[in-house]
Formats: sequence, structure tokens, C-alpha cells
Amino acid sequence: MNLYKNMVVIGSQWGDEGKGKIVDMLTEHADAVIRFQGGHNAGHTLVINGQKTILHLIPSGILHRKINCLIGNGVVLSLPALMQEIHELEIKGINVRDRLTISESCALLMPYHSVIDKARERQKGEDKIGTTGRGIGPCYEDKIARRGLRVTDLYHPESFRKKLSETFQYHYYMLENYYQCEKSELETLNIDKIFDEWMNFSKIVLPMVANVSLKLSKYRQENKRLLFEGAQGSLLDIDHGTYPFVTSSNTTAGSAAIGSGFGPLYFDEILGITKAYVTRVGSGPFPTELNDEVGTYLAQRGNEVGATTGRPRRCGWLDIVALKRCAELNSLTGLCINKLDVLDGVEEIKICVSYQYKDKIIQHLPASFEEYAECKPIYESLPGWHVPTRGVKNWNDLPDNAKSYLKKIEALVGVPVKMVSTGADRLDTIIL
Ligand code: GDP
Ligand code: IMO
Ligand code: MG
Repeated sequence: MNLYKNMVVIGSQWGDEGKGKIVDMLTEHADAVIRFQGGHNAGHTLVINGQKTILHLIPSGILHRKINCLIGNGVVLSLPALMQEIHELEIKGINVRDRLTISESCALLMPYHSVIDKARERQKGEDKIGTTGRGIGPCYEDKIARRGLRVTDLYHPESFRKKLSETFQYHYYMLENYYQCEKSELETLNIDKIFDEWMNFSKIVLPMVANVSLKLSKYRQENKRLLFEGAQGSLLDIDHGTYPFVTSSNTTAGSAAIGSGFGPLYFDEILGITKAYVTRVGSGPFPTELNDEVGTYLAQRGNEVGATTGRPRRCGWLDIVALKRCAELNSLTGLCINKLDVLDGVEEIKICVSYQYKDKIIQHLPASFEEYAECKPIYESLPGWHVPTRGVKNWNDLPDNAKSYLKKIEALVGVPVKMVSTGADRLDTIIL
């Protein structure tokens, strides 16, 4: 793997593949790390010498003291969440403000967005998406509807106030009349208070604001090595994922160009982060889901609890049909298989190689979720291993059956396995 070029790291399942750990690890070989989509729905966990840090908006390179981190235009930015994250890092002695650049074109995620998100989920009842409740969808909607506020609006308090007032009134009307929110819920939405708070935030934020796209061009001319960090996973992509049970941004690699303002031909590597099994948080079809003791074993051993919402993650076998699609969608140049160690002790490991849909065997994900929900996995079985892999740092130290499992994935997907992770710590990694 060429660690000295511009690389995109994306999740190739339904999120939480361990992107944060890998981005942190690869940052050693980079000059800057860039987030390009999503918002504080993301939860990226970094473990260094047993010390855990969870990041939501700030790129996972921040713990490397000299690295520049950038938040691209494709990110929806909650200023309170950003302030909180900066504060938590600063308490740990990590300087953030002089190394973080925020795009002036980021959409601002406002307090009414999360109220709408939660109200909608409540109204949907059993059909809910299972969102993180952070207001991500409503914020992207405002952006696409061209009524949203952007970071650059903070420079102009008067027009900020005018735009806020128009959007606020629209949403308030909907919340009161269509979603029939309780008075207590609406009390948190006071336009004067929001305006004052955002003007106060702007004093801290504006010194970090710049044209990220221009900055990246400059880095490119200086031959700097750039690492683009995806959030969520390819199956949560708004266009290519398991709609409607997806997030509201494009999570696939093409988004790295659009969400940062960096030309698509300037990327050299696209690394797909894949768990050795699959997890999913929230609702939606999941053909290889395990509702048995193996699923419970994976959840416990993998500590599968959401890094943002604390919800239990659903667990299942690796799905090659979905992974192959993901390899194509993202033009993956390499795979990184994470959490191999979680499979330690599993007697028989299954991988899904095709689906049965009604009386047909298919090799693709149907676009309709109703059809996808009816797909049954067809498995191949491989023997597990008894020698633990947790903490293994060299390929040669892996048990033979673990090597066979990884080789099998590589052969079926047709993309080389370039990294393997065997523990949460930065150092528990095999680079091939
Ligand atoms: P992200 O959203 O893709 O960055 O992933 P999360 O941080 O939400 O979830 C991944 C979880 O698995 C975190 O708790 C990590 O500390 C942990 N993790 C990452 N890689 C490994 C690994 O190889 N083995 C084990 N056991 N845990 C890992
Ligand atoms: P990272 O970056 C896992 C899921 C939610 C829900 C759906 C829509 O840590 O991998 P949203 O709040 O985005 O509107 O929720 O997407 N989801 C994630 N699942 N990891 C994430 O991020 C996620 N971000 C959103 O659970 O099913
Ligand atoms: Mg996560």
C-alpha cells in the first residue's frame, strides 16, 4: 500500500467499521486529514496506549500533534457539538484551534434540526429509521432546499439573522402544526437565544474558518500527503445504500471530492474499512443478521455499542454480496479487515456469497427495501481458529485458518487486503 499519496478511507458496511482507528494510525504517514461528509452522527473511536478518545466532527488525525485537520464543505456542522469536542480535547492537553480549518461553505446544523429529526422519528413509530437524533437529515434538507445557513453567514450578523428568521419560522410552524410537538419541546427553540449563542460561537469559530478547497490545492502543489476520512458506511449512502434506512449524505468515495473541493483525479488510494463480520445500528434490512448466541458472542466480544448514541449494534456474518458492490461503488484499491480478533473462538465462520430472493439466486442488493428484506443469505462455511489473534502485529503470526479467511475474502471481492486490525489499540495492526 502506498502510504505516501492522497488516500480516501471509507466504511464499506453500515458504519462503525473502525475507520477512526485506521485513520489515526495512517495519519503518521500524512500531512493533513480531512472530513468531507456527515456530521456529529459519526462516532470514531481512537485507542492509544489504552486511552480512549471518541471523535464526532473533528478528523481522527487530531491526536498527532503536528497534523492539520480540515472540515470540508460537505460536513453539516453543529457548533455546540464542535465546541464541546474542542473543549474535551483541550482538557486532555491537545491543541485544536491552531490546527483545525473549517470550510466557510459548511452547512450549519441548528437546534431546530434535531427537534425535527426526533419529532419525525416519533411520528413514524415502528417504521422509524433509527436515526441518531442529531438533526443530520433535516440539516441536509435545508441545504438542498437552499434555505440553510452556512458558516460564511456568521461573518454577516444582519443577514444571518434574516435567514435564520425565515428558516426558523418555517420549521417552527411545521413543528407546532404538523408534528404537534409539546410546548416543552418548542421552548428550547427561542430565536433570540439561538442568534445570540451563534454570534458568541462565531467569535471562537471564525478564526478557524477558511476556503478548504483552496487550502487543499495549495497542499497538492506542495506535494503534501492528504488523508480523507469518511464517516458512516457505503450501505448508509443516500443514493446507493439501503434507502430509506440510510443517512442523508453520500458516504461513498466520490463524496470525498465533492465534500472537500478536491479534484476527483487527485486521489491515489481508496481504502475500504470492513469488519470481519457486520454490524448495523438503527432499523432496516440486514440479511446476515444473527439473532442467536453467535450474534451475542460477537456483540460482547466486539463491544458493539454505538459510539454516539450508546445503542446496541446488531451483528451478523460478513456479506460478500454487499462488499463486492461496495468495492465497485468506491473503486476500492484496498481492503482493511478490522476486528479479526472478535472472531477468535468461533467454531464455524460463515460468509454470505449470494442471496436467495423468492425462487431466484441473486448477486446484488435490490433497490427496494421491501425486496431486500426478503433476501435470504446463502452461506459458505470456513473453520474458525483456536489460537487468539488479538494484538497480533505480523501476518506470519496469524493462525492458518485466520489467514485462509482473509485470503478467501480477498479472492471473492477481488480487492487486495492491505491491512488487518486485531485490536482497538493503534498498534494492533498488520500492514501488508
Ligand atoms: P468508526 O465509526 O468506523 O470509527 O468505528 P467506531 O469507533 O464507531 O467502532 C469501532 C469500535 O471497534 C471501537 O470501539 C474501536 O475501538 C473498536 N475497534 C477498532 N478496531 C478494532 C479491532 O481490530 N479489534 C477490536 N477488538 N476492536 C476494534
Ligand atoms: P460512523 O461514522 C453507524 C445510522 C443511524 C441510522 C441512520 C440514519 O461512526 O460509522 P442519521 O442520524 O445519520 O440520520 O441516522 O444512519 N448512522 C450510523 N450508524 N455509524 C455511524 O457513523 C452512523 N451515522 C449514522 O444509526 O440507522
Ligand atoms: Mg462509529
